[in-house]
Amino acid sequence: MERRIAVFASGSGSNAENLIAYFNERKTGKVVLVLSNKAEAGVLERTQRMGVLSRVFSSADWKTGEAILRVLREEQVDFIVLAGFLLRVPDMLLHAYPNRIVNIHPSLLPRHGGKGMYGDRVHQAVIEQGDTETGITIHYINEHYDEGNVIFQATCPVHPGDTYQDVAARVHQLEYQYYPHIVEQLLQKVD
Ligand code: GAR
Repeated sequence: MERRIAVFASGSGSNAENLIAYFNERKTGKVVLVLSNKAEAGVLERTQRMGVLSRVFSSADWKTGEAILRVLREEQVDFIVLAGFLLRVPDMLLHAYPNRIVNIHPSLLPRHGGKGMYGDRVHQAVIEQGDTETGITIHYINEHYDEGNVIFQATCPVHPGDTYQDVAARVHQLEYQYYPHIVEQLLQKVD
């Protein structure tokens, strides 16, 4: 059964693009909608190029969730995937999609998680604190940043002399490798 996926993204959107491309080749799911809070986010250009519907919502809309839930319902979305989305997901959406919203975080949670920890800030913290290992965490979303149940983690080494950009590149590769597969497995559990 082809599940209908919405991706929420605030930034460059390389994970969103990877998810769209992956599900274009599958019958298990399809990215039908990309939602953002930033009109200038790179993800919107990628989404348009790939022929997927996108919408930008204001901070006020992201606080209440009403207008967002309406568009999710219009597009008959079954499952929500956060890919570099930096706002809190409104409670209304958490209740409407229980166990159907997942996030990817670019570290081994609970290390380097929480409000304000995203993207390169995470990789900088990894270098500053001398970690020898980092990775990705895919987890369900709950009311608190980066605290939902962990579904999957994968690790990669941090080498002496690495810059945060080196670490970011290695972690991004893990994200591209695993995120679509894990989402696909979760889609099969949705009733
Ligand atoms: C990804 O590395 C993702 O894990 C991270 O933002 C990046 C987005 O890259 N998410 C967080 O830090 C969430 N706390 P992308 O826009 O190229 O997909």
